[in-house]
Amino acid sequence: MYGLPRRSRALLLGLILFVVGSTMYLRSERLSTVEPISTYFPHSGIHLDRSVLKSRADAIKEAYVHSWHGYIQYGFPMDELLPMSKRGGNSMSGWGASVIDGIGTAVLMELPEVVEEQLKFISQIDYTKCEHQINLFETTIRYLGGMVSAYDLLAGPYSKFIQSGMGEKNHALVHSLLKQSVVLADALKWSFNTTSGIPMPFFMLHDRRIKSEDINSIAGFGTLVLEWTRLSDLTGDPQYATMSQRAQEYLLKVENPEIGEPFPGLLGTHVRLNDGKFVDSHGGWGAMGDSYYEYLIKMYAYDPARFKRYMRRWVEAAESTMTYLTSVPGPSTRPRSNLIFVGEYSNGKQVSMRGSHLACFIGGNFLLGGQLLGEMKYNIYGLQLVEGCRATYAKSPSGIGPERFGWDESLVPSNQREFFARNGWYYSGEIDYRLRPEVIESYYHAWVVTRDDKYRDWAWEAFVAINRTCRTEHGFTSISDVSREDGGNKDDKQESFWFAEVLKYLFLIFNEEGIQAKENIGFVPGKNQKWVFNTEAHPIRRY
Ligand SMILES: *[C@@H]1O[C@H](CO)[C@@H](O)[C@H](O)[C@H]1NC(C)=O
Ligand SMILES: *[C@@H]1O[C@H](CO)[C@@H](O)[C@H](O)[C@H]1NC(C)=O
Repeated sequence: MYGLPRRSRALLLGLILFVVGSTMYLRSERLSTVEPISTYFPHSGIHLDRSVLKSRADAIKEAYVHSWHGYIQYGFPMDELLPMSKRGGNSMSGWGASVIDGIGTAVLMELPEVVEEQLKFISQIDYTKCEHQINLFETTIRYLGGMVSAYDLLAGPYSKFIQSGMGEKNHALVHSLLKQSVVLADALKWSFNTTSGIPMPFFMLHDRRIKSEDINSIAGFGTLVLEWTRLSDLTGDPQYATMSQRAQEYLLKVENPEIGEPFPGLLGTHVRLNDGKFVDSHGGWGAMGDSYYEYLIKMYAYDPARFKRYMRRWVEAAESTMTYLTSVPGPSTRPRSNLIFVGEYSNGKQVSMRGSHLACFIGGNFLLGGQLLGEMKYNIYGLQLVEGCRATYAKSPSGIGPERFGWDESLVPSNQREFFARNGWYYSGEIDYRLRPEVIESYYHAWVVTRDDKYRDWAWEAFVAINRTCRTEHGFTSISDVSREDGGNKDDKQESFWFAEVLKYLFLIFNEEGIQAKENIGFVPGKNQKWVFNTEAHPIRRY
């Protein structure tokens, strides 16, 4: 705690913000759900023409094709393209992650030749063999999620696209997506055979040595349940759902809350595989915690009948986040700031004012919760968080936000005091950009909820900045320094999630044409939403 308690003025109707030192406690009254969001967040008045939207959607598609060609030329069949050294890298088990992560976006973009090439390749992967270490979380969200989602799309609303674009023979290839998902899950499932039933985070496929003395992170085993449950629902074989949900129980009800649950619903980070007990009390919505919270509400979106408990757990975490983790940057330097950030906690209840690009998905996640539960307070809070993360983009000379940032007035580095006074945050730790999606993902949700084209403009600005700094002759790359206008050095990695997430959210925010629009197949959260995105942005059909 720094300084004396000090009360701050209400920023928005219905929200009273208490600033205690540097930590702001936020209490919200129950707001009417009948009133539109524009009552609280006025519409900017920006309306984009269809022709503008079309040219933007086309530019995103062009970026996909450019990245795909680079990958095929120099990276395929390895996991990803290293565009500067013009070769492939295997950071994701070596089964060709970019293909599986890329197929869903290619389907939505209606690129039949690309999809056909991807389907053929996927049908021939041997998921029973792997020389590299398996990361169960990454393998689930990228490979299993990618295949199950592509199956949901191609056996569902995009089956017409298959027929008209690719011919009848490809139906067998579509079904191989599901078969291959079963092969993969069967190759991985022994890792759940620990004393507690919490799976091992890393292992060699053929090792089969259970190491129950290890630990796993809450995101590591709390972000499997959507993909493994969907696989059971599609195949009628309950074992995958049972395994993943059994592990999840340790997070729904914590064995040792005095350590593992420092705030109601907000958990520590690491859990022991032998007894399911937490070993630490630090955490938040950033790395290793993030998608556990994300999936609580997404499971409810997937099937409200089966996953009400998950939703209640999300509500607990959301309420604690609003109450204990919210803070405004440097209240004394920016008294009228309406920026809100979410901090991280360590040693139990100490909240530090640091954030990350990864945690910027939280605005979108609150907006999803607000839509599903009809709770205006989550929508408002979500939009405020989107503004905070937007500031990290808008005020960076490159136009892209950093991997890590801070807003603790007492810790501003001396060479950033002026920057902080102007912008309300400062660079703190890593300043690179790895083609991450979270800020754009939240813009997507903000646009869906508000229908305010301002968010489309923000997404476009982000794309133009990425295209300007990360584009290479053969694809896109991570960059070293977003605090420089040119983005610093090109770091030589085109992550597979560039295809799965960044390009998909960008395409969906601009695209008003194609099957998606004509068939009204409901990607949009809310009452008629038919899909839920896994944490890798693979759309899974709601149960
Ligand atoms: C799990 O372990 C038990 C006993 O150690 C063994 O009988 C069983 O076959 C194992 N299951 C899997 C899926 O490996
Ligand atoms: C993206 O970069 C390419 C290559 O520099 C350029 O030709 C294209 O116009 C850019 N697109 C946008 C939308 O800025």
